[in-house]
Amino acid sequence: MAMQLLPFHKPEITDEDVQSVVETLRSGWLTTGPKVKRFEEDFAKYLGCAHAVAVNSGTAALHLALDAIGIKEGDEVIVPTLTFAATAEVVIYFKANPVLVDCRPDTLNLDPDRIEKAITPRTKAIIPVHLAGQPCEMDRILELARQYNLKVIEDAAHALPASYHGKNVGAMGDITCFSFYATKTITTGEGGMATTENADWARRMRMMSLHGISLDAWDRYTDKGSWYYEIIHPGYKYNLTDIAAALGIEQLKRCNRFWEARRRIAGHYHEAFADLPEIQVPACASNIQHAWHLYVIQINAERLRINRQDFIKALKKENIGTSVHFIPLHLHPFYRDSFGYQPGDFPQASAVFQRIVSLPIYPAMTEADVRDVIVAVRKLVQEYRR
Ligand SMILES: Cc1ncc(COP(=O)(O)O)c(C=O)c1O
Repeated sequence: MAMQLLPFHKPEITDEDVQSVVETLRSGWLTTGPKVKRFEEDFAKYLGCAHAVAVNSGTAALHLALDAIGIKEGDEVIVPTLTFAATAEVVIYFKANPVLVDCRPDTLNLDPDRIEKAITPRTKAIIPVHLAGQPCEMDRILELARQYNLKVIEDAAHALPASYHGKNVGAMGDITCFSFYATKTITTGEGGMATTENADWARRMRMMSLHGISLDAWDRYTDKGSWYYEIIHPGYKYNLTDIAAALGIEQLKRCNRFWEARRRIAGHYHEAFADLPEIQVPACASNIQHAWHLYVIQINAERLRINRQDFIKALKKENIGTSVHFIPLHLHPFYRDSFGYQPGDFPQASAVFQRIVSLPIYPAMTEADVRDVIVAVRKLVQEYRR
């Protein structure tokens, strides 16, 4: 048993990360400037996309993406119910309506078969969420979007680095939104990035991320620029700081190594739980690269004398921290009360929610940590087997 609580997540912060942030602090330039520009360039190069716009959260990236494609009051945007608050709340910022869609029971991603049924004349966009880091069925989603003239804004908060049929997530749909929140696959503490091939959308997102003014602070306050600026549209204060970007630049250099480490842990878990019918390991589609941001197991309640909630409590007693991704949106008071959603409207997500547990998976875990998780899960299964 682990000697002390293994946290659900712990970011890997190296001396290089610390030094990069300290250098920025000492440089005299703290807010959006050369480090942000470099982070954007490095990110675009890493993914092979034309434009990358850095912002201060993944939520801000989603908000700016919907603004760029012109979402208006009364529009409808298709969103999976099994996601985080951010994916749907940004739709509501526009007084538009998020239309929830159920997940597939295997990958837990948005079910393309159900998307078409949710399309109405008011539908303007789809936000597929690459849950846990596994890309959605993008061929079918992009084909539906083409057929019905919809935009596709990918929520890739979990999906760095991931690919679908050889194409990197971030260089595929109309706009892709990443998060660098503390628990994500690379972190800037708080931060996000929107990527696109469309120069007009990139320009609009950049402008709206800084009050809708025509020049960014870097140009205004260096000898490249001047005091003059014009407000084109009332925008937002979503710009990333150079302090955060300094961390992002260093983290991005290790993105592939981080991914290798998570993939190895996922492989150990797969192997260790393969013979347990009580535990369903994550289903992985073919011809994709899974980012393995999360490792979500499903507890098979028919075979165990313990429910998901008590399973989590028992794992905690074994000193293993876990989490749940996510409580489906339709079960939350706001969505239930505002849209009249019932649990039965989304049978897959409602059922899956009772069974899911996210196990720790991050590069700072040692081999012993991984073993502790495996031993704890196997011990509970043995103890509570029917
Ligand atoms: C699926 C999903 N979308 C969007 C976000 C929002 O990202 P951020 O916290 O950077 O705003 C998150 C963050 O946890 C997320 O999990």
